[in-house]
Amino acid sequence: MKHNNVHLIYFSPTGTTRKIINAVAEGLNPEQVNCYDLTYPIEKTEQNIVDGIAVIGVPVYAGRVPKDCLERMAYYKAHNVPTVLIALYGNREFEDALVELRDIAITQGFNVIAAGAFIGEHSYSTPERPIAAGRPNGEDLSLAVKFGQEIAAKIELNDFNTPEIDGNVPYKERVKFGGVAPETDADICILCGRCAEVCPVRVITVSNAVTTQAENCIMCSACVKICPVEARPFNHPVIKERRELLIKNCSTAKRPKIFL
Ligand SMILES: Cc1cc2nc3c(=O)[nH]c(=O)nc-3n(C[C@H](O)[C@H](O)[C@H](O)COP(=O)(O)O)c2cc1C
Repeated sequence: MKHNNVHLIYFSPTGTTRKIINAVAEGLNPEQVNCYDLTYPIEKTEQNIVDGIAVIGVPVYAGRVPKDCLERMAYYKAHNVPTVLIALYGNREFEDALVELRDIAITQGFNVIAAGAFIGEHSYSTPERPIAAGRPNGEDLSLAVKFGQEIAAKIELNDFNTPEIDGNVPYKERVKFGGVAPETDADICILCGRCAEVCPVRVITVSNAVTTQAENCIMCSACVKICPVEARPFNHPVIKERRELLIKNCSTAKRPKIFL
């Protein structure tokens, strides 16, 4: 059976979360897909989702839902709409992100009927120092499509129960970001402005040079990955150390985990 509308609500600075929710939507096989992109600053007006199925996707930042994403989600309300939650993580752990997302979603009126933790290339992965490079891969995407089909089957059975989801309440303490940001190599930069366009928190200004307000940077790496000439390497000592730790401890490929 076709479900008329699927509403995709997501925050995805480097695009891996977006890939998975698109695949889940494909499995749900809707007639229409509506996208609500929370990656960039949004209009601060309340949005009401009243029909169809919602799919909410977020990346995991330090085991939690990114703060800016939570603030933007607060404008989204629903009336008991069956909802799928997706947490995308960089092959370390998703920890409390999915239960945090569940609690927010329920508070906003979404009815959580399924959830999944999927793996995406880590924001700090580089071609030389890869971490979950190329994820989600073909197998991840097939699993996400299959997950969407299973959710559609659950809905067919009129089963709208909220599954048990891995994670702890109270959630692990939120890590504060800020003060560390990618820097532009002025010798390579062509001042195209793509970095500023994709910054979720608008801390980059491009004129005859690129400036970055590091104190408000969320370290998402959107600017690093979009740069067409690789002029924004993220090689701050904090990130370099983190990258090496991830390579040392998190190189065994994890598999998606679903809760249905
Ligand atoms: C600030 C920050 C914190 C992160 N924390 C985690 C984490 O706790 N566990 C993990 O496995 N990956 C972590 N990651 C990696 C992201 O979850 C991963 O790269 C994800 O695919 C990014 O999603 P996106 O492509 O939709 O932006 C972190 C990334 C950033 C930028």
